Amino acid sequence: MENFTFYSPTYFMFGKEAENKTGSLVKRFGGSKVLIHYGGGSVVRSGLLDRVKDSLTKEGIGFAELGGVRPNPRSGLVYEGIELCKKEKVDFILAVGGGSTIDSSKAIAAGVLYSGDFWDFYSGKLIEEALPVGTILTIAAAGSEGSPDSVITREEDMMKRGATGDAIRPKFSILNPALTQTLPAFQSACGITDIMAHLYERYLTNSKEVEVTDRLIEALLLTMKHEGPRVIEDPDNYEARANIMWAGMMAHNNSCGVGRTQDWNSHNIEHELSALYDVAHGAGLAVTMPAVFKYVMKHNIMRFAQVAVRVWGCSMDFENPEATALEGINRLADFLTSIGMPRNFAELGANEADIPTLVENLCCGNGREGSISGFVTLDKEDCTKIYRMMV
Ligand code: NZQ
Ligand code: ZN
Repeated sequence: MENFTFYSPTYFMFGKEAENKTGSLVKRFGGSKVLIHYGGGSVVRSGLLDRVKDSLTKEGIGFAELGGVRPNPRSGLVYEGIELCKKEKVDFILAVGGGSTIDSSKAIAAGVLYSGDFWDFYSGKLIEEALPVGTILTIAAAGSEGSPDSVITREEDMMKRGATGDAIRPKFSILNPALTQTLPAFQSACGITDIMAHLYERYLTNSKEVEVTDRLIEALLLTMKHEGPRVIEDPDNYEARANIMWAGMMAHNNSCGVGRTQDWNSHNIEHELSALYDVAHGAGLAVTMPAVFKYVMKHNIMRFAQVAVRVWGCSMDFENPEATALEGINRLADFLTSIGMPRNFAELGANEADIPTLVENLCCGNGREGSISGFVTLDKEDCTKIYRMMV
């Protein structure tokens, strides 16, 4: 196991009607004037936004509002949010929605206290200072409710990049699984896929002797395999929603990733797809993961064979471990198809002719120097081959 530090100070309030405690939690974490940030309207239609405002008002907390975050959140609204916070003297950002809303909130929180362009953080600068952020999560997916990360797309060149820093870990996150019952099946499936990707990206490690995190990841993957189809079949299944929601947080607050190198090549390769085509991140990952895994499998066949046996129930072929590894990847792909995810470029809405652009942005965009690294290092030729495998 590698040396590590782990700092995860988020206060979680989990369960039915937890959102009614928003006001007291904002107060507890020092907020007196809040920016309520939300997306395209689902929280308005569900009545959640009104309940949150009531809760703030009851505690005497003032607020400004900024809606309109879109999936794959954009830099333009972040700049708008930063200006609004300065004008309204906001001291706390409250994200009400999914990963996109939370990520936009984190970007605003960091940008308000920074004299330069907030995009510096998305070009590699560590976020060391930010306004406090609280979240009320409405979709189990990105794990941003417990993570120190934010992903934003810069509008001028559609560059989708991440920023990180413990300063943007939420002070509190309210997780009420019932709030996810209004999700369309497609979005639930995208969330399930993203959670599984966060687990796989950590499973694919070059570190040795990481039994505890291996086993945690396997347990969470097994949970997703069990609970995912139950939620697709019955969107009102509170218990399945609850298990998925907590698994989504655990998959990405890095409790499963400490002490080990991690991959993130599938995420990087996917981010170019959601940047160029504005597809849902989870749907992009469903197409990306099997291709990447098949391409890099030979780097450590036994790692892929292990997850195939322990999670996907494959029997170990000791004569030919590669066959076991491949079967595990195929079972993952079939599982994702069974919950309604796309399998290839055509189903995703991507275009083979764009592969050179995707590869150029991926390997050379925003300061990268011709390759991406993780479980293995992939250069432009490798990435071209991987995108072709998705066609
Ligand atoms: O905008 P509204 O109207 O709220 O609709 C959203 C949106 O259309 C809808 N939705 C959310 N909750 C709902 C609901 N509809 C009905 N009922 C509900 N309860 O779902 C759609 C997707 O929302 P979004 O916030 O985009 O989803 P998600 O949580 O999957 O976030 C995706 C973004 O997170 C980034 C992705 O790249 C992508 O930009 N990621 C962020 C990470 C992080 N910060 O740690 C890590 C991830 O790997 C990921 O990259
Ligand atoms: Zn993700």
